[in-house]
Amino acid sequence: MIKIAPSVLACDFSRFGDECRDVLSSGADWLHFDVMDGVFVPNLSLGIGELRSIASAVDAFYDVHLMIADPGQYLDAFIAAGADLLNLHIEASGDMAALTAHIKKAGKKAALTIKPATPAEAFFPYLSCLDMVLVMSVEPGFGGQSFMESALPKIALLAQERARRGLDFDIQVDGGITLGNAARVIEAGADILVAGSAIFGAQDVAGTVQAFKAL
Ligand code: DX5
Ligand code: ZN
Repeated sequence: MIKIAPSVLACDFSRFGDECRDVLSSGADWLHFDVMDGVFVPNLSLGIGELRSIASAVDAFYDVHLMIADPGQYLDAFIAAGADLLNLHIEASGDMAALTAHIKKAGKKAALTIKPATPAEAFFPYLSCLDMVLVMSVEPGFGGQSFMESALPKIALLAQERARRGLDFDIQVDGGITLGNAARVIEAGADILVAGSAIFGAQDVAGTVQAFKAL
């Protein structure tokens, strides 16, 4: 069954805890926590302190998407703050094999991500060591953008490579996911959908989460 990871970037931060509890009680599987440093992407978002607060108040699986230039510097701090999965961009600095091994050694799930301009083949050397790959379907940095169709063949290629090599990593897709395009993303091979504005911006948040889960 498809997993849904609402991106908390799109929530009303005056009601942060309540909005997170609402999506979880409606059937969301994970909380997707976007971290931006103003260097890797031209925006700032949530950080270590915010993760520590929400993770101590709301019991959930925290999927932490690090859009930061030097992820290795902060892995231990995010793990201590409550991250369950750490997701690094392949385009960031650092030895991705060593960094993902460090995450696994700490008992957490490790994932890598590609921006829209990066080919899916960039994942291939790391696939056997990963719990998840994330195909970005917008330029990282902002919520509320339109889905890029160029993500679909990448998802299909990763699903094909997973079957060919007998691996079991999950394929996550993030950016511009709506109830209108989610079925095609799942059809291409995605296992986990991130959705920010489509969920937290909906009139009926609970109904929208349930509609995603029913796909
Ligand atoms: C973009 C973030 C996404 C974003 C998704 O840089 O990584 O997680 O919040 O938001 P929507 O679903 O609104 O595109
Ligand atoms: Zn994200």
